[in-house]
Order: sequence, then C-alpha cells, then structure tokens
Amino acid sequence: MRLLVLGGGGREHALIRCLARSPLVSALLAAPGNGGIADQAHCVNADPTDLEAMVDLARAEAVSLVVVGPEAPLAAGLVDAMEEHGIAAFGPSRRAARLETSKVYAKRVMRKYGIPTADFRVFDDAPSALAHLADATYPRVVKADGLAGGKGVYVCPDALSAREAVEAIMLGRRHGEAGRQVVVEECLMGEEASLMAVTDGEAVLTLPAARDYKRALDDDRGPNTGGMGAYSPAEALDARTEQEVVRTIVVPAIHAMSREGHPFKGVLYAGLMLTRAGPRALEFNVRFGDPETQAVLSRLRSDLAEILVATCEHRLGSVEPAWDTRPAVCVVMASQGYPGEVSTGHPVEGLAEAEAMADVAVYHAGTRRADGRILTSGGRVLGVTALGEDRDLARRRAYEACERIHFEGASYRRDVGLRTPGPLQGTRRGGIRGGPPRAPPKA
Ligand code: AMP
Ligand code: GLY
Repeated sequence: MRLLVLGGGGREHALIRCLARSPLVSALLAAPGNGGIADQAHCVNADPTDLEAMVDLARAEAVSLVVVGPEAPLAAGLVDAMEEHGIAAFGPSRRAARLETSKVYAKRVMRKYGIPTADFRVFDDAPSALAHLADATYPRVVKADGLAGGKGVYVCPDALSAREAVEAIMLGRRHGEAGRQVVVEECLMGEEASLMAVTDGEAVLTLPAARDYKRALDDDRGPNTGGMGAYSPAEALDARTEQEVVRTIVVPAIHAMSREGHPFKGVLYAGLMLTRAGPRALEFNVRFGDPETQAVLSRLRSDLAEILVATCEHRLGSVEPAWDTRPAVCVVMASQGYPGEVSTGHPVEGLAEAEAMADVAVYHAGTRRADGRILTSGGRVLGVTALGEDRDLARRRAYEACERIHFEGASYRRDVGLRTPGPLQGTRRGGIRGGPPRAPPKA
C-alpha cells in the first residue's frame, strides 16, 4: 500500500523509519517531510493543514492510508476530509481532537466522567479570572484554552505571576483566539510521565511509557520547549501504576468520547502527574508525542503499518506488537537560542559517523537538503536516539553519537536520561508560599 505521512519533525521521521521496514508498504510519501525523511519517503512541499491540497495529493498518488503526525491538521479536520473521500486516515476526527485543541473541553469531559485531574475553574473574561486569582492559594496553573504550541500553560508561584498570565492571555491576546477562555487549576506535585495508547475506539493498545524533558536547560531550568529529549520505559510509571492509569484515565477517556458521540481513533496521549494521591491527567494530546515517539518507536520490533491499518479497520484487538526490552534515550540537538529566535542554514556534519554506531538512530527534525548536503532549518534539529542494555548505557551511547555530530550553534541538554525532579518539585518542601523564587512561567 501507498502511505502518506503528514508532518516534518522528528516524530514523523521515527514513524517513517518504522513504516519503511514494513512489507505492507510499497511507497511512502511525506508532506512536507524534512532532510532526513527524504531518504525514506518522497517529500512533497505542501501544507498539511490545507485540506483540499492534501486530499488532492492523496488521490493523485493513490494513497490508501494517511498518517497524521502533528495536531494542527487534526484540528483542521484532515481525517474527516480524507474519510469523506474514502481514504483511510490514522488520527481522530476534528471533534474528537477537541480533547487536545480545547483544554476547557478536555477538563469538562474529565469532570463529567470522573477522570482524575487537577481541580479547575473556567473563565470567559479577565475580570472574573482576576477576581478568582486574587483570593486563590498558590501555586496555581493558568492555561489558555486553545492550541498555543505548548506555550499556553503558566505555572504560577504567586498571585502576581498569575495576574500577569491572565492579562497576557486574555487582554494581551498573546495566544490569539486560543486565549478567549482560560482554565485556572490546582498545581499538582509529583513526577511526570507520558503514556500513549493506540485505539480504534474500542480496543486499546498502550505503548511503553515515556518521560520527556520540556525545559530548555539542564535540571529543568529555562523556558518550556517542544521537548529536549525523552526516554522509554519510564520507571516512574511501574506496571501497577500504568494499569491504574489505563483503568482510571485512558479507557474512561476513550469511552467518554464514544458516549459524547465523537468516537476516538488514533493515538491518545495522556500527560500525567504521578501524585502521592495517585496518577492525575494533566492533559491529553490526540497524536504521537514528540520526542517521546522517537524513543518509544525505536523499541518497536513489530510492523507499525499493521498497527495503523488495524486501527483504521477497527480490528486493533487482533494486534499484539513486540517490543525491545532495552531502554531508549533520545537527545534533541537544537539550534542555539531555541526556543527563541535561531539562525538556520548551517551544514550538519558527522551524521553518517553517528548513524554507523550500533543501536543508534538519528531522527531529523529541523533539517533540509541542499546540493546533497544537510542544512539546519529549525529550532529542534535532530533527535539522536540510542538503545542500551540499561538506560545509562543507552544514554551514554546517545551522547557519544551527539559528539560525532557538528553544526554551528548546536546545543543540547546533558542530563537527558537522568531522573530530574521537575520544575516545582524541589521547592515545595521548603514551603511554597515563603519559598525561594521559582522558574518563570511558560512564555
Ligand atoms: P500541558 O501542556 O497541559 O501538559 O502542560 C505543560 C506542562 O505544565 C506540564 O508538563 C507540567 O509540567 C505543567 N503543568 C500543567 N498542568 C499542571 C498542573 N495542574 N500542575 C502542575 N504542573 C502542571
Ligand atoms: N512531548 C509533548 C508533546 O508532544 O506534546
């Protein structure tokens, strides 16, 4: 079969590497793809949120399955558009994607169906949000309702920062329409983990748990990013806790969407806080995580295409994939300045030397090809991923591979694979109210 993968980041490169191994796949296309994806797929420089262009492309290329990487095409209704034209698409419908595209919607679903999450209130206007925050206890978390590229969440240590967050979101329109409503919620303490589950709306196939590193700098300092690294498995989510997450969060959310009339198909990603009182859902994403997917799929020993096709044909229950028991660690190499302004167009050297290492895969994110060379083209450039007998060995191997790769301004965290306490965790014990200043909110 002919497959079209939408997106052009490290996640999509990991998906495409797996799909390229499948005996079911005769041709791979990507839109827009990137410099690394071009090795395995024919890249078409087109915008995946342009539904008409995507349907035309899929029809012209006789594509029988479209796999959607990022959230934006899902939010735009890409899956609905493909299915209207009889083309199978892996991912949720526009309405089911609301679990990610509207935090207000997700929180209300969680409350309605008893899914454990932080206590919250929704505000439609700045004065009522500000009045509520003037009386609140701290820390609190302020979230813009809509998609904000991972930047719409503000963990606020005190009333001043919370007020600034609401003003920026609702009055300053920092995230545009996404900030028409805000969610103000209880700040949860614990270790974070991500659990992704593939579902056809009924059967649920959980993927090995992962941990990602959202902050730009070592020890979880600096601004939030799209993700600076990941590892899998995540020991914080032991088998018993994972079962609890599946039973209390993942399965209820999938059933809730069916009952709401928007059955969910694709990947449901649960962002979790493992609190002392049990696991809580921080958020849902409706797609594979980036860079968790790079770590998780590096461990897949079965046919990914078979899993995706079975999902679209509603027979996921018949699929049982095999996983490498060895852990994987993915280190993101970024351009200097990321997540702020970066300069691009710098040649990347040493890719072949890194890829030549056993159990190493270098997934491209912000790269492009020019005159046979690979140039940087974005903030996150590569996801350098390694397997090892244990996580420490995987981590060392990934860093050894990073050292073989050179481009101007290359920067990466040095602590990926180590267990870090998380941005606010170190300060609670010292008493949050009188405690030391904490990391600035996401901006
Ligand atoms: P989200 O995009 O909702 O996953 O939020 C991004 C990050 O903000 C999470 O990974 C957490 O580190 C933090 N966060 C979100 N909600 C909460 C919460 N209720 N309590 C503590 N931290 C949170
Ligand atoms: N790594 C978090 C995400 O994909 O949104």
